[in-house]
Amino acid sequence: MGHRSSVQETIAPPEKAYLVGVEWKAIPAGAYLPEAWAPEYSLAELERLADTAGLDVVGQTVQKLERPNPATFIGKGKTAEVAEMARTLDVNVVIFDDKLTPRHQRELEAVFGKDVKVMDRTALILDIFAQHAHTKEGALQVELAQYEYRLPRLTQTWTQHTLTRQAGGRAGGSTGGVGLRGPGETKLEMDRFAIRRRISQIKDELEDVRAHRLRHRQQRRRSGLPTIALVGYTNAGKSTLLNALSGAKVYIADQLFATLDPTTRRVELPGGTVILLTDTVGFIQKLPTELVSAFKATLEEVTEADVLLHVIDVSHPRAQAQARAVYQTLRDIEADELPLINVLNKIDRLPSPEAAGTALADLPDSVAISARTGRGLPELLAEIETVLESEMQRITVLLPFDRGDLVSLFHERGLIEDETHSVAGTHIEGRLPEHLIHQLEPYREF
Ligand code: GTP
Repeated sequence: MGHRSSVQETIAPPEKAYLVGVEWKAIPAGAYLPEAWAPEYSLAELERLADTAGLDVVGQTVQKLERPNPATFIGKGKTAEVAEMARTLDVNVVIFDDKLTPRHQRELEAVFGKDVKVMDRTALILDIFAQHAHTKEGALQVELAQYEYRLPRLTQTWTQHTLTRQAGGRAGGSTGGVGLRGPGETKLEMDRFAIRRRISQIKDELEDVRAHRLRHRQQRRRSGLPTIALVGYTNAGKSTLLNALSGAKVYIADQLFATLDPTTRRVELPGGTVILLTDTVGFIQKLPTELVSAFKATLEEVTEADVLLHVIDVSHPRAQAQARAVYQTLRDIEADELPLINVLNKIDRLPSPEAAGTALADLPDSVAISARTGRGLPELLAEIETVLESEMQRITVLLPFDRGDLVSLFHERGLIEDETHSVAGTHIEGRLPEHLIHQLEPYREF
């Protein structure tokens, strides 16, 4: 499993998981992309998530439901059936594909007994995030999200049997089984008040880290190099592509969310332009909004990029639905206006070259590549260059002193070639993404 293993992990057998999905007879309000995700695909993905978390999936079930049962989410009979299966199969954790309310979780735990933990997709994703956060910022973000997720679920039973099973270590320290990571042993007795205090402390720490990162980003901006962000559904091949283009050694695994912290590399385009290519966290369907906001700082790398490379695994049977989930997340973080190139990856896995052609026909603004074999990479680099050139417009402005905001904007989003200060204001010559030009238009010099 994860590349971060502990002694405990190597000696303890993997925990056994049982999966529960729901097929909705009517689509519940607020459901995520329901049309695109038949339960079998969603459960297959949940299984991969469980696998990534190091769990051994021993069985699964789907129930057809009109609406969630307010007490146990699934029906009473089904709950009893799952409890029975859990006993028979010696299951440690039952994972629900849909979001459970704190009440669902309590009621289900009461039925399943104290040896069976109940978790939902969000908690599982959080757990994987905890295993994969390598930087201080990543670890803090996960810890925060975990506390915020757990706070309303902090019941007596939960604290007694789940928290005491928790292995110690910070978020990111991978010890023990699923849901047993994260906030450590010493913190277990913390009451709500202490948890709230820790939450605000983490927020302060995150602010510091973010301020630091912002300075870095500004420095990067000052370097005048355009930034290209890789986005895509988890496992689409973003890290492989980053490596293929830059020769960098970024961790790659056939696992979900192998990349949690942004990594940036310099890459030279055929025409000589040097770009900064940055890898980001993989997206996934049903990625809960609170997680999106927890990872806001990481995702800021996306919103501030000049161009997005949307990496799609064309060999995946749900490639289209995955692409839609990515577009949805891009809308959530307001990055859907940025120039975007669809990169159809893993064409080496397609049965024939024509298959790539068919996929291409569906997504006209795209380049077909194989990050693994290198096919299509020169075309991709050329396309990035074309898009960058068409996106950046040259402008010379004289900005009055009361428009420090526009000077900052130019610094953050543009490529500055010359900057001088005079009594009249700040004179800047450089290039800016086309969609920002109108803001500086009133101060254009010629
Ligand atoms: P996350 O970190 O989960 O967001 O994943 P990612 O998008 O960074 O994917 P990653 O680069 O880790 O690749 C996922 C898996 O796909 C790995 O097993 C890669 O070896 C494989 N892979 C990536 N690109 C290609 C490709 O072009 N062809 C084939 N056959 N496999 C590929």
